[in-house]
Amino acid sequence: MMGQRIPIKTRAEIEAMRESGRHVAEILLILRDAAKPGVTTAELDIIAAKEIEARGLTSSFLGYDPGGLPPYPAVVCVSVNDEIVHGIPGKRVLEQGDLLSIDFGIHYQGFHGDSACTIPVGQVSEEARDLMETTHDALYKGIEQMVPGKRLSDIGHAVQTRAEAAGYGVVRQFVGHGIGRVMHELPQIPNYGRPNRGPRLVSGMVFAIEPMINAGSEGVRMLDDEWTAVTADGELSAHFEHTVLITDDGPEVLTRVEGSH
Ligand code: MF3
Ligand code: CO
Repeated sequence: MMGQRIPIKTRAEIEAMRESGRHVAEILLILRDAAKPGVTTAELDIIAAKEIEARGLTSSFLGYDPGGLPPYPAVVCVSVNDEIVHGIPGKRVLEQGDLLSIDFGIHYQGFHGDSACTIPVGQVSEEARDLMETTHDALYKGIEQMVPGKRLSDIGHAVQTRAEAAGYGVVRQFVGHGIGRVMHELPQIPNYGRPNRGPRLVSGMVFAIEPMINAGSEGVRMLDDEWTAVTADGELSAHFEHTVLITDDGPEVLTRVEGSH
């Protein structure tokens, strides 16, 4: 694709992104542990906001304005069951058996980190577990493609192939993205597509890869809050995301610490 200039990070920038990624990973682990039956989604937001404050970070999400929408009102996105992405924290009480997606991003020393995971609240159905595991696996199939010399569309192709092999629907309406000094940099990274298209991948590029996979069809419907995306058919959805650096030695997941997804 002509004219797409994908930022290449310097060594110093990469060091800063490792730090912001580590904070994201650590806080996501805290949120995962806190997400138990009886806890409200607003309580998860408060826990995340306290960590942001204590660590001297800034939220990437709070006040985020993609244009034409009300600014995003919280520091995490919490999407339950048929909610795909961008669920707004509130009074909803988590229940045993819920499938919960938590999406979290911060800004630190000039750079953003962005990651998401889907977790079971207590015990979930076999169907929910399979969707969750498949989506996680699809994320890593995409990450595996992040080596110099591969092309951009190889990532989405690998994600789509894994998800569709399991009979699931790949959400088209939301995509992964370059990430750095701004949360959404070039390029956009769809979770589907034909292989061997688009720019060559180069060491020093950093992408947030984030498949959203539906148990049923890929169709999306928006709620009246203008942010929450739900499955059109009411079936479950899962979402995993990592911020990943391309290096000559292969992909380096910046938003992972011991115990992370
Ligand atoms: N991971 C999501 C994305 O890249 C997070 C955005 S949440 C928002 O779109 F609140 F900032 F919109
Ligand atoms: Co993202």
